[in-house]
Formats: sequence, C-alpha cells, structure tokens
Amino acid sequence: MAVQISPSILSADFAHLADEVGRVANADWIHVDVMDNHFVPNLTLGLPIVESLKKTSPLPLDCHLMISNPDRWAPAYAEAGAESVTFHVEAAAAPIRLARSIRAAGARAGMALKPATAVEPYADLLGELDMLLVMTVEPGFSGQSFLDVVLPKVRRARELLGGRDGAVWLQVDGGVSPSTIEQCADAGADVFVAGSAVFAGDDPGAVVDALRAAAEAATAASWWSHPH
Ligand code: DX5
Ligand code: ZN
Repeated sequence: MAVQISPSILSADFAHLADEVGRVANADWIHVDVMDNHFVPNLTLGLPIVESLKKTSPLPLDCHLMISNPDRWAPAYAEAGAESVTFHVEAAAAPIRLARSIRAAGARAGMALKPATAVEPYADLLGELDMLLVMTVEPGFSGQSFLDVVLPKVRRARELLGGRDGAVWLQVDGGVSPSTIEQCADAGADVFVAGSAVFAGDDPGAVVDALRAAAEAATAASWWSHPH
C-alpha cells in the first residue's frame, strides 16, 4: 500500500479554494473538514461548498465530518460526489448501518476516533470500513500540536487491521508535519492529512512532496514492511 497525502483545506484561503486546491495537485486527495459548531466548537463549511469543490478539484475529495448526527448527513456527502466520507464514531448512532449507507451511496466509508477514544471496542466492525482515521489532535482546529500519546493506538489499530496490504486504510490527522510524519508512518499509518504544514508556507506542493518522501522512507524502514 503506497503512502497517500491528503492536504486539509482548513488551512487554505477559503476565498480562493479553487486556486488553493490547484496548488496541491501533486497530492492524492483533498481533505475537507466539515464542522458544525456542535460536535466541535468550530464552524467551517458544508454540502454546498463540497458540491462546488467537486466540480473544480483535480483530486478526489476526502470529507471528514466533525458533525453531530452523521447518520442523517453523511450519505449526502457521498451523493454530492465525495469519494471518501468519514464520520466520527462518537457521534454516530449506528456506525455499521452508516458505513454501509456511505458505501451504498458510492463512496469509501471512513470512521474517525478522537484522541481519547479506544480502537478495541470497534475491532469487529473494522471490516465494514474502507478507512480508519485516528485523530492526532482534538478535532476542531488546525495548527494544534501533534499528540504523540496517540501513537500507541495507531500501532494497535495497524495490528487489528493486519499488515499494510489490508483493505482498510489507516489515516492520521492533526499536527502532521515533516517532523512528525515519520513517527506516524512507523506506527503503521498510510494516509496522512496535513493542514497548516502544507498551506502555511509559500509552496504547498513542495511540502506535499517532502511529506510523501519522509513517509515513504519511514514506511520502507518500518517493521510493517518487513513482517516476520
Ligand atoms: C482538525 C482537522 C484537521 C486539521 C489539521 O480538527 O480535522 O484536518 O485541518 O490541521 P493541522 O495539520 O494544521 O493540524
Ligand atoms: Zn480533518
């Protein structure tokens, strides 16, 4: 499984989203953070903007729904054309049914865990997913410090998902930068979200390339690439 980079437009210029997305066309996905000022204390964007982004983005959309009642709203993001839709398990009433409805609407189904949410209670439903997102900051804002206390959970999630050739991708999101991405790759993550690290500087595309190179090197050196 190759390394994938998903820049978060939460750190981009919202008045020029089409241009910002064009600056990271060398990435694999565009990460879209949907916040409802209820599940998290911040408000960002919703379906109309996802529908517009879908028309202009050269890359598939990776929608991360930090909203209450995802059971009600998540399938609509798949219907709007998002190729991946991730809901928070803490907010979902029926996560298995929800993952199935996202898939039925044509998208990859992702499930996210806040930093203090354990992965083990969900071991039996991981096969219903296309991606597990382990948050490495509290959801709500970009630019927060990476929580390395979450790394053992990334490792345990990788163990539960099996080796890197497994069908379920393992994403990390929050504080991922050229200085933290290697630890994430070493712990078994294969999809990397980065917001401020990518969009804070003058050359977001170059940061995407640097993140990819660092993650690929750490992956090649990791235990997961050489299972015994
Ligand atoms: C946080 C969002 C992240 C955020 C990451 O709640 O889910 O996607 O944009 O931003 P950085 O990479 O700056 O932590
Ligand atoms: Zn996110």
